[in-house]
Amino acid sequence: MTSTRGLEGVVATESSISSIIDDTLTYVGYNIDDLAENASFEEVIYLLWHKRLPKKDELTELKKQLSDNMALPQEIINHFKTYPIDKVHPMAALRSAVSLLGLYDDLSEDMSDEANYQKAIKLQAKIATVVTTFSRVRKGLDPVEPRADLGYAANFLYMLSGKEPEEIEIEAFDKALVLHADHELNASTFTARVCVATLSDMYSGVTAAIGALKGPLHGGANEQVMKMLSEIGSEENAEAYIKEKLANKEKIMGFGHRVYRKGDPRAKHLREMSKQLTKLRGEEKWYNMSIRVEAAFTAEKPLPPNVDFYSASVYHSLGIDHDLFTPIFAVSRVSGWIAHILEQYANNRLIRPRADYVGPGMQKYVPINER
Ligand code: ACO
Repeated sequence: MTSTRGLEGVVATESSISSIIDDTLTYVGYNIDDLAENASFEEVIYLLWHKRLPKKDELTELKKQLSDNMALPQEIINHFKTYPIDKVHPMAALRSAVSLLGLYDDLSEDMSDEANYQKAIKLQAKIATVVTTFSRVRKGLDPVEPRADLGYAANFLYMLSGKEPEEIEIEAFDKALVLHADHELNASTFTARVCVATLSDMYSGVTAAIGALKGPLHGGANEQVMKMLSEIGSEENAEAYIKEKLANKEKIMGFGHRVYRKGDPRAKHLREMSKQLTKLRGEEKWYNMSIRVEAAFTAEKPLPPNVDFYSASVYHSLGIDHDLFTPIFAVSRVSGWIAHILEQYANNRLIRPRADYVGPGMQKYVPINER
């Protein structure tokens, strides 16, 4: 048996959902560049779940199902009020709330295809409301009910702020959701598949995946990028800051990737959005600082920015609290997790690898008073 640290290069499953080949990302064969420019997030959800783009009436139906299912059970809102609110990270709140949602769904343990599809809709719909409602409750604000006339991205921004978002904000947020929706066998998706391959339920799979996404080496990096930009403070400090961090052997969040070598194809879209949105807000310093950080970092290490680097200044420009950046990643990525969970159920085998044992050889038990 040979072991591979971090399972690098190991092919653990077949999948027809998304692929990364020669630094090109596709969802069901559609290039991410094409989808980012043309598709709505709801079209992408349909694509990932049905492996084809929806027709008009199918898209209308999906949008209706999502907005019909966005409202949260009152018990979840009450539960938020019992959290130690000033200490809880929104990702921990989200992980707990998604697990709780399973308690209030009569179909939780029903593993039929129909029940799993209903759960998929409910999870995708309610995850947006969990994030926005938690954000409001912790500020002492009343939750905002979803609106049937708004699409998914617009509803999220509306429920978060209580104000109808501008068209440019909806477009940018929708594109960010499209870009984050799926990404082959990343750590959180693999976690979801491992969990449901035991034939555990969809709520368990998504809860496990949220836990994996939370870490700073994965989805948690976007919040850390904003923390770094805030610490740098102004453009002229960028180079010295990066040099010092690298000299101390610290990682710079938002750079590097296990699979991409030349670059993450999603980053260029987010870089452009960051440029436009920071200009619109009169806060170009975040974009300019990011550009300087990228130049300073890549001059030292040949590791291009990943999806998390420019998404930080994009979300900041949309007025979103920094600790909600990773929960927003989950709001999008749940579409991919669900697609992978359904694919796993459709052709399941328990995922159970081996470990290369490197501990002591055979030992004889010594009674406690003789040790
Ligand atoms: N900053 C500084 N050095 C880095 C970085 C970085 N961001 N990323 C990798 N390196 C260096 C490592 O120090 C290591 O150097 P060494 O060989 O001299 O020890 C080498 O590059 C390989 O790095 P690993 O961490 O072994 O690469 P791995 O494939 O395991 O990790 C990862 C990929 C986790 C993304 C890594 O690049 C990283 O930690 N990046 C920062 C966190 C981040 O941005 N995560 C988001 C990734 S995208 C996503 O999940 C949505």
